[in-house]
Amino acid sequence: MGSKKRKRGERPTTTHPHNKYFDNPPDFTLLASKYSTFAPFVFYSGDGRPRIDWTDFNATRELTRVLLHHDHGLNWWIPDGQLCPTVPNRSNYIHWIEDLLSSDIIPKVQADRKTAKGFDIGTGANCIYPLLGASLLGWKFVGSDVTDVALEWAEKNIKSNPHISELIEIRRVNMERPASSSEELNDEPGKYGQCTNVDFDKGKAVVIGPSPPSHIQMHSGIGKGYGGPPILVGVVKDGEKFDFCMCNPPFFETIEEAGLNPKTSCGGTMQEMVCPGGESTFITRIIEDSVQLRQSFRWYTSMVGRKTNLKVLISKLWEVGATIVKTTEFVQGQTCRWGLAWSFLPASKKIVPTRVAEKNNMSFMLEGLQRHQSGFDVLQSVESYFCSIGASSKLDSASFNVDVTLSGEQFNSILKTQTQNGNEQDILTSANYPSNQLNDMRLRVSVFQQIPGTLLVRGLLLQKEVPVPGVFSVIFQQLQEVLKSKFSKGIR
Ligand SMILES: C[S@@+](CC[C@H](N)C(=O)[O-])C[C@H]1O[C@@H](n2cnc3c(N)ncnc32)[C@H](O)[C@@H]1O
Repeated sequence: MGSKKRKRGERPTTTHPHNKYFDNPPDFTLLASKYSTFAPFVFYSGDGRPRIDWTDFNATRELTRVLLHHDHGLNWWIPDGQLCPTVPNRSNYIHWIEDLLSSDIIPKVQADRKTAKGFDIGTGANCIYPLLGASLLGWKFVGSDVTDVALEWAEKNIKSNPHISELIEIRRVNMERPASSSEELNDEPGKYGQCTNVDFDKGKAVVIGPSPPSHIQMHSGIGKGYGGPPILVGVVKDGEKFDFCMCNPPFFETIEEAGLNPKTSCGGTMQEMVCPGGESTFITRIIEDSVQLRQSFRWYTSMVGRKTNLKVLISKLWEVGATIVKTTEFVQGQTCRWGLAWSFLPASKKIVPTRVAEKNNMSFMLEGLQRHQSGFDVLQSVESYFCSIGASSKLDSASFNVDVTLSGEQFNSILKTQTQNGNEQDILTSANYPSNQLNDMRLRVSVFQQIPGTLLVRGLLLQKEVPVPGVFSVIFQQLQEVLKSKFSKGIR
C-alpha cells in the first residue's frame, strides 16, 4: 500500500470492486499532510515512494486509525499489543458478505427487516467488522468476545462513534459455561442437500446438491476437540435471527506457531491468536453450532487461514448437510486467506459448478522449506524453470512475483511432451494447433508466506482468453512437481 495508484492490470484481482481502496490505495503522503500524528511514521524509499515500517506496531495502528477516520468517518483506538486490523483487507470480507446477502442463491432478507443483521464472532478490541459494516452499509451487529480487554475496548470504540452506536451490541460470552457438543443430531428429512463440487483454485465456488441422508451423524472429529467457551450456541438468544455470522478466528494452535514477538506489526495477544487445535477446531465448532441453529442464520461464514484446513472444513460441511457452500480468496500483500460461507436454507437457484471451466488461477502449498530457504529462493527457481523451457520471465523481488511469457511454440511442445507421457488425456487434441497461429500466453507466479517453512504458490493467467484449453493447468502442475522435488523433499 503506497500513495502511488497502481496501473490498470496490476491490481490484485481479489480486491472487491466495492472496496474503497479498489482503485484508490491509501495515499500516505496525503494522510501524512492531514494527520500530524501519522507523518512521523512515513518515510520515502529510494524510488521516491512513501512507505511505513510494517514491522512497527505504532505505525500500523496509526495507519488504521487515520484510514478509519479519513475514509470512514470513524473514531478508533486499541491498546498496545492488541490485534491491529488492516482496513482494506477487512473491508473485503464485509463486501463479500454484501455479495452473499444480495445474491439470489438463497431467499433474500426477510421482508419485515429493512437492514441486515450480523453476528461477529470474536469482535476483538478493534471491533472492526461491526464498525465497518455499520458505517459502510448500515448493518446491525452483535459482536461477541471473551476477554475483558476486548469487550471494554469494543464498547469504547462504539461509544466514540455515536452516529452508529445504536446499531451495534457487544455481547460477553459466558466463560463459565463450556461449549456443549452433540454426538448425533436429528435431521429434518428432505430439508437440505449435499455439496457436490468445488473448485478451490478458482477462488470461488458454489456448491448445491441433492437430498441429504435422513440422519446426520457427527463424525470425523466434528464436535470433538474444542474445549473453549461457547461460540454461537449458548450465546445466540432464543428466537434471535441473523442474516449472517462472520469470524476471524484465532488461527494458531500454539504461541510458537503464532510467532508472537514484540516486532509483529499487527500485534495480537495469545487470547486473540491462539486456540488449542487451531482454526480448524474453532471453525469446526462453528459448523457444529450451525447444525443446531440451522436457519437462525441465513449465512454462516468464517475466514480460514490455511488452504489445507479449507478443504477439510468443506468436507465437514458436506457431511452435515449444508445446502450451499461458497468460498472466496482474500489477498493482501503477501497474505492470502480464504472466506468460507454455508447455509441451511433451501437453495433458490441452481448454480452449475464451474469445474469444467478453464482455470485461470491455481495454487498449491509448498511445505518443508529449510530455515535457509526463503520465498525469494522459490521465485528464483520459478524463473530458472521457465528459462530452461525457453520462456521469457522476469522476477520482481518487491512484489514477490515472476511474470512469464510463453510463445505458442513453447507451450505446444510442453503439451506434446505431456500427452506423449499419457499424463493429460483431456488436452490431447489441443496439442496439435499450428504454433504460428497461437498467441503468447502470459502468467504470473506469486508466493505467499503461510507459516514458517510453508509457502502458498499461486499462478494467475494474465489474459482472459487461454490460447489452448488446459495449457495453463498443465504448465502449473509441471511447475508444482519441479518445486516440490526441490524444496519439499520427503513430503508427499
Ligand atoms: C483473531 S481475533 C479477531 C479480532 C477481530 N475480529 C479482527 O478481525 O481483528 C479472535 C478473537 O476471538 C475472540 N474469541 C476467542 N474465543 C471466542 C469465543 N468462544 N467467542 C467469542 N470470541 C472468542 C478472541 O478473544 C479474539 O478477540
